[in-house]
Amino acid sequence: MPDDKLIWPARLHHLNLTSEDPQPLVDWYSRALMMEPRGIAKGETWLRGKDRHLIISDGPKGGLKYAAYTLENEAQLIRLRNHIREKDIAVYPSPSPLMEDSAFMIADPDGNQFVLGICRETAVTPQMLPGRLQHVVFRTTDISRLVAFHSSILGFRVSDVVKEENGEVTATFMRSDPEHHSLGIFRASETGLDHFCSESTSWNDIRDWGDHFAGCQIPITWGAGRHGAGNNLFIFVADQDGNNVEISAEIEHWTFEQEPREWLHEQRTLNLWGSAWLRS
Ligand SMILES: [Fe+2]
Repeated sequence: MPDDKLIWPARLHHLNLTSEDPQPLVDWYSRALMMEPRGIAKGETWLRGKDRHLIISDGPKGGLKYAAYTLENEAQLIRLRNHIREKDIAVYPSPSPLMEDSAFMIADPDGNQFVLGICRETAVTPQMLPGRLQHVVFRTTDISRLVAFHSSILGFRVSDVVKEENGEVTATFMRSDPEHHSLGIFRASETGLDHFCSESTSWNDIRDWGDHFAGCQIPITWGAGRHGAGNNLFIFVADQDGNNVEISAEIEHWTFEQEPREWLHEQRTLNLWGSAWLRS
């Protein structure tokens, strides 16, 4: 039933990061993620890369103004908007210049803002290391409330759930198309952005990204490793403001119908190859 699929299929298209000092952050992404900066408004810069887009705005350091997902077509977007309105969730105009005019924005119970729309066509940019913006992960103090919202209001499908031995959930990975997760939610002592990730095409790309970061004198902060949940290869670096930026490859593909899987909250769940960075 297409009406049951809501956000399926959709992909993360861009993020709007905020910074108290945007220019060094723009310079960092231009160099480190090989993105082309373009001023689009006062205090707002669009960083354009091949299959990856960011907007950097004036605002709090480490903040995320919104995450924007692009849907398959206008009919799907209308069905999703109608469903959201039926649930009495407020719908706001989209602030994103990278989306068609039909896009709209909602806020989840933590105040994280999501733009849903159809991305505008953008000119092809020069070839660079592959890495399509693929998922974003939020920290929350109330994981069950956030997972319930994103499941029932937007229609994200739960892939992997990580639990303590006592059954308490510490992480949930959710998908909006066959890729294992395009949204993650981690239990933490505060709310906000945890990290975001660009998916490259192979292990060799991870090697090339590592060499590229080395050339930029940007140290790898976690990895190389392979996540248990999602089974993707990964490395992490930190940007100029301390935001965590992941490059991954080989993320698992799941069907729409596939039932959630459970993992124990332990190091191997986050890194099959070695030590993990456990947020809680
Ligand atoms: Fe990730």
